[in-house]
Amino acid sequence: MIILKRNLRGIIRKIQSVLLLVVTISLLFYYTFQNEINMLNSYAENEYVPSINTVISSDNTADSLVNPPGFNNNKNHNNQNENINGLPRPFGDKNKIHDSSSDNPINNNNPNNNIPPKDPSKDLSDPAVLKVKNKYFPLLLPNISVAFDFETKAQKLNNEAHLAPPPQAQAVRENHPVLYEVSLPSSFNILENENENLIQATYFEDGGKQQIDMLADIKAIFLKSWNQENIYARAKSRLEVDWPITLIESLDTLFILDNQEEFVKAVDLIGEINFSIPPEHYKVADIADMSRRVLGGLLSSYELSQNTILLEKAKQLASFLLRAFDTPNRMPILHFFWQSTLKNRFPYQNSNLGQLNSMSLEFTRLAQLTGQSKYFDAIYRIYKIMADSSKEFDIDYLFPINIDATGCQLFSSEEISLGDHVRDSQVMKSINEDLKFVQCHQTGKFKIGKDDKLDGKETFSMDRDTISIYDTLAKLRHLLNNHDLLQLSESSLKASQPGEETINVKEDSKTSDNNEDEKELEKTKKIKQPWVTSKQLFVSALESVRELMFYTPMTPLYDNLTFISSLDTRSWFIPTTNEMSIDVSPHYDMNIESCSLASTFAFGSKVFNISEYIKIAENLTISCIKYNSLFSGILPKHSYYDPCLDGSSCMFDSVSKINNIKQGYYLRNEMDSSDSVIKVSQNLNKHPILEKENDNNMITKVLNFKSHSKKSILQMPPGFINENGEWSDNPEQPLWINQLDSSLLLSPYTIQSIFYMYRITGEKKWRSLGKSLFNMIIARLQKEGEGAKQTWVIKEVDNNGPAIIPSYWFSQTLKYYLLLFGNGLDYTLDKYVFTTNGHLIKRTNTIQGTTI
Ligand SMILES: *[C@@H]1O[C@H](CO)[C@@H](O)[C@H](O)[C@H]1NC(C)=O
Ligand SMILES: *[C@@H]1O[C@H](CO)[C@@H](O)[C@H](O)[C@H]1NC(C)=O
Ligand SMILES: *[C@@H]1O[C@H](CO)[C@@H](O)[C@H](O)[C@H]1NC(C)=O
Ligand SMILES: *[C@@H]1O[C@H](CO)[C@@H](O)[C@H](O)[C@H]1NC(C)=O
Ligand SMILES: *[C@@H]1O[C@H](CO)[C@@H](O)[C@H](O)[C@H]1NC(C)=O
Repeated sequence: MIILKRNLRGIIRKIQSVLLLVVTISLLFYYTFQNEINMLNSYAENEYVPSINTVISSDNTADSLVNPPGFNNNKNHNNQNENINGLPRPFGDKNKIHDSSSDNPINNNNPNNNIPPKDPSKDLSDPAVLKVKNKYFPLLLPNISVAFDFETKAQKLNNEAHLAPPPQAQAVRENHPVLYEVSLPSSFNILENENENLIQATYFEDGGKQQIDMLADIKAIFLKSWNQENIYARAKSRLEVDWPITLIESLDTLFILDNQEEFVKAVDLIGEINFSIPPEHYKVADIADMSRRVLGGLLSSYELSQNTILLEKAKQLASFLLRAFDTPNRMPILHFFWQSTLKNRFPYQNSNLGQLNSMSLEFTRLAQLTGQSKYFDAIYRIYKIMADSSKEFDIDYLFPINIDATGCQLFSSEEISLGDHVRDSQVMKSINEDLKFVQCHQTGKFKIGKDDKLDGKETFSMDRDTISIYDTLAKLRHLLNNHDLLQLSESSLKASQPGEETINVKEDSKTSDNNEDEKELEKTKKIKQPWVTSKQLFVSALESVRELMFYTPMTPLYDNLTFISSLDTRSWFIPTTNEMSIDVSPHYDMNIESCSLASTFAFGSKVFNISEYIKIAENLTISCIKYNSLFSGILPKHSYYDPCLDGSSCMFDSVSKINNIKQGYYLRNEMDSSDSVIKVSQNLNKHPILEKENDNNMITKVLNFKSHSKKSILQMPPGFINENGEWSDNPEQPLWINQLDSSLLLSPYTIQSIFYMYRITGEKKWRSLGKSLFNMIIARLQKEGEGAKQTWVIKEVDNNGPAIIPSYWFSQTLKYYLLLFGNGLDYTLDKYVFTTNGHLIKRTNTIQGTTI
């Protein structure tokens, strides 16, 4: 089931990269709902239907709407400025004004309104009613597929109502506007000590000079790939219909390569695009992907070239991305139906936290560059909720891959019949996927994802999205000059009106005023520190990863590698001991993306001053390099192994493996009474690295590693082995690998970690390891891409995928190689912060009046 789910996820990811940003679920549904799709397309222009809101607020009596029956507006009124956990809250305010509860808000004088006069308060399955009700009650949906169904319904309505096309470029009105924006404190532009927390090594064993021969080879491969894909010409020919994502993602690498001619041409082309509106056929905007690839690419090339057109474009795109934040708790809708007429929505009940904050470095930087608070406000709210939710899940400080971003706790029908929801000031009537009204109590926290709740388990994994949560936390601290955004306390949050410019790093920010701010911040830090710090969150999470996820797989190598396993957890409460008992089952798998975790450990060791993490980073990087050798460069995206358990050698032994399978060792019996439970960890957050926490009244969580979980999570019956002692369904697959899926050759994860290791330790061995890896990949590429007459083409080996070279090859893999062998003092880790997608964000700070 897990594997099925993973495969599905893999496929979805692949499709995303194929059609760039467009989540083509719509394709999937195409054949099933061809009719609806046709309507969808033909009415796609109807982005903005005449707004009923406007009609009501202009000529309807406002009073009847301000005091709707059944909604406790008095209480709401008193609490108008009350915060969810200290944050100025956008939640519910708009609704308070417009909530008409079960009143019929349809104004019959509106000539555009063709809605039939039936009892509208009940029948939400009538699209017309749904559309009207949605103005007041947000949709609460689990995922993109359900959202797609709603889209189909809404479009049907447009079709029936024959609505006139809206005037172009009508302003987008927010359902849940931010009342008070949180701004980036100007004190965060100041670095107290220039030499504090330097990330890069101050000494390189080999001097850090560029290696001309390697650079020439890498450039040659870049140009070969670039020309083979014809990236510029293709971008140009498709400019009307598509954003040229690969071109945008490659801009900064082009600049680093000093290919000014191509760079200027590309910027000119990109200058023609208006990024405030995606191409017409992008029905669903993948907010995380747009942020990481397009926004990151635009911003990075601006930082390097200082070409203001690029900053303009980044701002245009950011204004679009911000539209996805128009939800009751201001968490973004990851798959955003931006043309939808059902605009009032919660984020999804199944969301991914790493994707929710995928724009954090870019938005923080935009706030610095433009002085506009709205960018910082958007991401600050995510981090605030994240920090407040760090103990909501089975493993403290670790976030499962699936979370409920709505923050909703739904009232049961019993509670509703008792009228509990009326007494609750944080309640919001909403419409769920079954077209029923529900009452959502806003907790201000992330909750267990809806699917996980149904399955009764949480899944933790070190994939790129999850790694980026912790990685970005460390990088934000670096970008903010060693200031901790989680430590912004209420009094230091200068509330400002939206649109007001509050900071501008380009001006000298070292004024007495700012010193006051800083002192104020220091004071509040000392007085009360109610929230978790970045360091606490980072270290606690990585300690759990180390304790619970690290394992040594059985391989044919003499060396012991370290892999990072995914985990399933199941929990239940034991009232007698006030304990939460949590069963932890490792998958003993390997996700190719986990090879970048070494760079997180290495970077974090510097940012948070934890010297032992550099050793761990080294161990992980070496493990991944050896893993690459085992597969001569073509790594499975996801694979399963046997863990090495007892004190014996971790060398794989095929005889005992075959015997084990034949004797049913891998068949799990959940009820097996011989399962001895080992209590692994009482309180992970009491790590010596961290200051003591005083959470006496907390329920203790007890983590149990069940002994049966010490085998592969895969069920492998005796029939899996044939008479020759091979895998029955795949005799080619080595016996030490239990399962693998499609593979990648061009992936950036290992070289990313090597690059960080070189720049952080200054040890020359990393360059020679990088060189071997490069040569291995190129040799393999030549073999895989061999064509007639010694010509060879560069292609990703994953043959389910498209025939085009994925953009990460240009924007990440080759960039890390270039920087590894380029001058170590260029593009240093102290002048730039690299985003999850390898784009460069510049650090600026003020030290005694000077900007570095
Ligand atoms: C979306 O949610 C619905 C209802 O909860 C579920 O049936 C469906 O499988 C989900 N789809 C995906 C792709 O997760
Ligand atoms: C881009 O499109 C938006 C929305 O249609 C419009 O408001 C804006 O003026 C356009 N910007 C430029 C530079 O054309
Ligand atoms: C870093 O940690 C070490 C001890 O592990 C300590 O001696 C040193 O002062 C710390 N440096 C900073 C800048 O905090
Ligand atoms: C990583 O650390 C483990 C445990 O300390 C050790 O057994 C192993 O040899 C190390 N691996 C590498 C590649 O350094
Ligand atoms: C690998 O780990 C096993 C078990 O922990 C140990 O016995 C063995 O000596 C290690 N091998 C190497 C090469 O470190």
